[in-house]
Amino acid sequence: MTQTRQENFYDGWLYHLLVDPALRRARKLVRRQVKPESSLIDIGCGTGELVFSLSDSCRELVGVEASHGMWAYAHQRVGDLGLRNVRFIFASAEELADLPSASFDYATACMVLHEMEAGQRLPVLREMQRLAGTLILVDYRVPPPVNFAATTCRLIERLAGGHHYRNYLSFIKSGGLLHLLGRLNLSINREVRFFNSCLQLVQANNESGP
Ligand SMILES: C[S@@+](CC[C@H](N)C(=O)[O-])C[C@H]1O[C@@H](n2cnc3c(N)ncnc32)[C@H](O)[C@@H]1O
Repeated sequence: MTQTRQENFYDGWLYHLLVDPALRRARKLVRRQVKPESSLIDIGCGTGELVFSLSDSCRELVGVEASHGMWAYAHQRVGDLGLRNVRFIFASAEELADLPSASFDYATACMVLHEMEAGQRLPVLREMQRLAGTLILVDYRVPPPVNFAATTCRLIERLAGGHHYRNYLSFIKSGGLLHLLGRLNLSINREVRFFNSCLQLVQANNESGP
């Protein structure tokens, strides 16, 4: 079933202004996991900030984004920067059948899975698994720590709107990234906690992969 996603009022330049700077550390951590000259697909790429941060090192970069506001912003930036190894696809991550299996070294999703409907998460992860041998995921760590940073994150999720907040709560209640990955044929190689242990980077490989 195709799910159309509602645009958020902050998609595009406002997200770039307010949220992108806060996720700089996450992008640096992802970059450390990615070998130079590799190919990477970034699911739910937002304004494209992670993709742009890898554009000097990766051979091929594709961002996938379901929000038109986000996609248009990222697409415009590629044109402005004149990058030839970067492109952005306006699509939902469940609808990537046009891309052949194993066409990338890495598939990333940074702060995306908590925002999806519960029923979308596994199909999207399976699609990522089909497309790349190594998955790099960044999201809220579950259970959240009891600290000021975690309270702030929860407040931000609440301010993002009722639908967004319900999805965030369902992500936390269902056990987060480690629970989702446990349901797939993936071996977890690395886990890094950051932002006062509120966030988590997990790198996982297809067990049948290279
Ligand atoms: C919190 S933002 C994170 C953006 C970016 N990854 C970053 O690190 O800044 C989540 C993004 O995932 C996108 N998204 C959510 N569900 C999606 C789906 N099924 N397919 C593609 N993009 C999706 C949203 O439109 C949004 O731009």
